[in-house]
Amino acid sequence: MIILGIETSCDETAVGIVDDHHNILANVLYSQTKEHLPHGGVVPEIAARAHVHHLDHLIASALDQAKLEWSDIHGIAATCGPGLIGGVMVGMMTGKAIAAARHLPFIAVNHLEAHILTARLSHRVPFPYLTLLISGGHTQILLARGYGDYALLGESLDDAAGEAFDKSAKMMGLPYPGGPVVDRLARECADQVAATVRFPLPKPLVGRSGCDFSFAGLKTAMRQVIDALPAGPLDTPTLRDLCAALQTTIADILADRVNNAMMFAKDAQVKHFVLSGGVAANSQIRTRLTALATTHQMELVAPPIPLCTDNGVMIAWAGLEQLRERGPSALDTPARPRWPLMEQNQMKAAS
Ligand code: KG4
Ligand code: ZN
Repeated sequence: MIILGIETSCDETAVGIVDDHHNILANVLYSQTKEHLPHGGVVPEIAARAHVHHLDHLIASALDQAKLEWSDIHGIAATCGPGLIGGVMVGMMTGKAIAAARHLPFIAVNHLEAHILTARLSHRVPFPYLTLLISGGHTQILLARGYGDYALLGESLDDAAGEAFDKSAKMMGLPYPGGPVVDRLARECADQVAATVRFPLPKPLVGRSGCDFSFAGLKTAMRQVIDALPAGPLDTPTLRDLCAALQTTIADILADRVNNAMMFAKDAQVKHFVLSGGVAANSQIRTRLTALATTHQMELVAPPIPLCTDNGVMIAWAGLEQLRERGPSALDTPARPRWPLMEQNQMKAAS
């Protein structure tokens, strides 16, 4: 079975093709960073227009890269939410139009579910597994017991981890998207411990029971720290220290909450811990959580970085699993700005 997947929920226009032997046959992507850079963040209207502009030729390139014809494709998957609604509609309507014209099954994919299933494509991770989903809009710890059988162990009560990176980066005058820039500058910091002493930041909920997160206080503290520095652009050593302090604090918060989840998961005989979502590209977070997994005798699985950040391959793979488990989606499936992953459990019950 070969599935083509379309991703347009944020600022990446992406198309992927996968087969049921876990092969990635095509992975093409247009990142809209250039378009949004002058605005310091994603502008939904600009994103939707850019998706319209780029999607058709990316679909053609994906078929070229895979050396396939339309007659070789068995289904079209597209992100139907959650995400910026204008962009979601572009990808979803394109997917539906192709499916209708080619008499192919259409598969409406939940973007969050696609993130957490990616490790099953890249590493063939079996259910059940514990997963930390850390993206621009979501921070959740889930137990994936089976396809469409997810238990939410904890989530952010306010901002997502990605937002903490992006908003703090903006305050420091760093370009959008902030996460990768903070990651690079933190790596350039000579003494990370000294940086956390120079800029102590709060770690809300750390040390408490449960697996929920809070990052809003961190953002406020960053504002206060930056306001206390001399006015004007920040010098490079200060930027490196600030980024190291921020990144270490976020890694500490994530590790503390994941530690609680791992204790629970170990009791439930869960062996794998999967990192998913764009923030999972972060070098310090990957290293930190790998060490934590080892202390719990769990195996950490982190998909390759280009499959952690938004891409079309993960949509194609989630579409493939969904088609296998539940069959195609209706062509009148709506585009949804909000679509909690837990609703996938109800869909399983209904099918
Ligand atoms: O999953 P994703 O590509 O899009 C969403 O579904 O939100 O995640 C985007 C987020 C952004 O907040 C971006 O700054 C963050 O992932 N990110 C990183 C890194 N690479 C991407 N955050 C920290 N370190 C990175 N290396
Ligand atoms: Zn994403």
